[in-house]
Amino acid sequence: MKEAILISWNNKLYFGDNFQIMREHIPDESVDLIYLDPPFNSKATYNVLFAEKNGTQSAAQITAFEDTWHWDMKTEEAYHELVTQGPKKLADLILALRSFLGQNDMMAYLVMMAIRLVEMHRVLKQTGSIYLHCDPTASHYLKLLMDSIFGFNNYLNDIIWQRYTRPKGSQFESKRYGVSTDSILFYSKTDSHKFYIDRVKIPLNSTEITKRYNLVDDKGPYYSGPLLRSYSMGARPNLVYEYSGFTPGIEGWRMTKDKLAELDKKGDVFWTKSGIPRRKVRLDDDPDKPVSNIWIDILALGSQADERLGFPTQKPEALLERIIKASSNEGDIVLDPFCGCGTTIAVAERLNRCWIGIDITHLSITLMKHRLEDTFKQELSPYEVVGDPKDLTSARALAEHDRYLFEWWALGTIAARPAQDKKKGADSGVDGYIYFFDDYSGKAKKIIVQVKSGKVKRDYIATLKGDMEREKAEIGILLTLEEPTRPMKEEAATAGFYEPEHFPGKIYPRVQILTVEELLAGKVLQYPKMAVGTFKKAERKSKREQGEQKQLF
Ligand SMILES: C[S@@+](CC[C@H](N)C(=O)[O-])C[C@H]1O[C@@H](n2cnc3c(N)ncnc32)[C@H](O)[C@@H]1O
Repeated sequence: MKEAILISWNNKLYFGDNFQIMREHIPDESVDLIYLDPPFNSKATYNVLFAEKNGTQSAAQITAFEDTWHWDMKTEEAYHELVTQGPKKLADLILALRSFLGQNDMMAYLVMMAIRLVEMHRVLKQTGSIYLHCDPTASHYLKLLMDSIFGFNNYLNDIIWQRYTRPKGSQFESKRYGVSTDSILFYSKTDSHKFYIDRVKIPLNSTEITKRYNLVDDKGPYYSGPLLRSYSMGARPNLVYEYSGFTPGIEGWRMTKDKLAELDKKGDVFWTKSGIPRRKVRLDDDPDKPVSNIWIDILALGSQADERLGFPTQKPEALLERIIKASSNEGDIVLDPFCGCGTTIAVAERLNRCWIGIDITHLSITLMKHRLEDTFKQELSPYEVVGDPKDLTSARALAEHDRYLFEWWALGTIAARPAQDKKKGADSGVDGYIYFFDDYSGKAKKIIVQVKSGKVKRDYIATLKGDMEREKAEIGILLTLEEPTRPMKEEAATAGFYEPEHFPGKIYPRVQILTVEELLAGKVLQYPKMAVGTFKKAERKSKREQGEQKQLF
């Protein structure tokens, strides 16, 4: 038996590709629960994913996560690794799938998922479980992958989550039934996985109550429940006893004699015309129903939902709450390797689990940091962000690797909201916004931000001033990786100061230039500090102890 080692556990947010992060940072059998919701471009139709990769059509349509799901050198390497070093069953399956599907985006998606699922299997504890969230486009192939990696025997459920009660109108144009469900494939690593169905029972609604509690006596409504164990429940000699002149067969009563006497005393035991004892089950005895594999009681987040953060594929907290409560205990480690805006992480934190989140975009890491800090404030457990540029060299490396990621990271450090999806749009004008309040009119004032990772040019300041005028912004920020020139600084100074009416004597430069080096050294923007958070605050949900020691096995 492994010894329990007591270590100080810091929750972790990793910025990077989950494949490398899991391989390099997460030890074997260290995680209790994995939930993953990998990106899958829902606009990409079946046909697009199956098109042989010989043209541009599919490439143009699958824009969102193009690096991951295209057949390229990385996919080819992953394919080779799976076939030559992967588990035998998986290697056979991958070969068969390639011969069936050909070399297209669907196959690339499956290869990239397979190599990551192998890592997830490695990091999962013997008692752990995994929930793979996907949609019907690929769920049948993913199930094959899961069967070969986790084992047929460890398949537990295909949970059907109904996201919408009414499929979108446009779906009726496609000559098929509207699709309103996702699939969540639920597997364990062994049959000793943790599972607590009683924690996630659903309260009955009023119609169900009326239907179920269909009898009434002077104490109120009830339904007639069995007191005797059925034949299929098997023999229980210790529950065979005489009560009020009745002795059951070898299967026995459903409860001990003391409990039965107590029930009888409350007036909740009665005898049928044929002389069989039964119990009156009251609403207090059984107010809930167990959850099945069809989840229709949790709706996708609507545009007005309180917890909505503006992240396109954000999942509802209620969904993660059910999964985390049913399949883990307080202090357990929950991993979300595709964590987006951090729904799993926020719920794990609220439910006193330890957590690890990984995402490849810095935008997600920034959103998660704000979500956690805004929600839990001083009660947030200690956590580390791994992979954030900490010095000028790593910031420069990030800018060279991907200038959009750099831009999102830089905006995140000053809590600015990115202006648009830069990957899709042209690099025009404003990159980010910060809103603040400096009076009681309820009207937010605006700061616009431009981020530059290349060589600085003098006309940047003139452009920024023009944008400020057009956008009616009080303050303009130039955030630059390179040092500004003296003429740039001089021109910035000519913009003068912003003087808020309600802060007499306070002045703030209208145009501020901030270098990444200054930012990393702790320099902050200057603007009236009656500021509100740029990101929407989620409801504060629970108290928790700070800095506690967690048991890691
Ligand atoms: C569908 S979203 C997850 C949404 C999440 N469940 C939530 O509620 O916010 C998928 C996320 O996976 C991230 N992602 C895609 N490929 C990745 C990779 N190879 N490694 C880590 N994250 C990745 C994307 O950046 C995106 O944020």
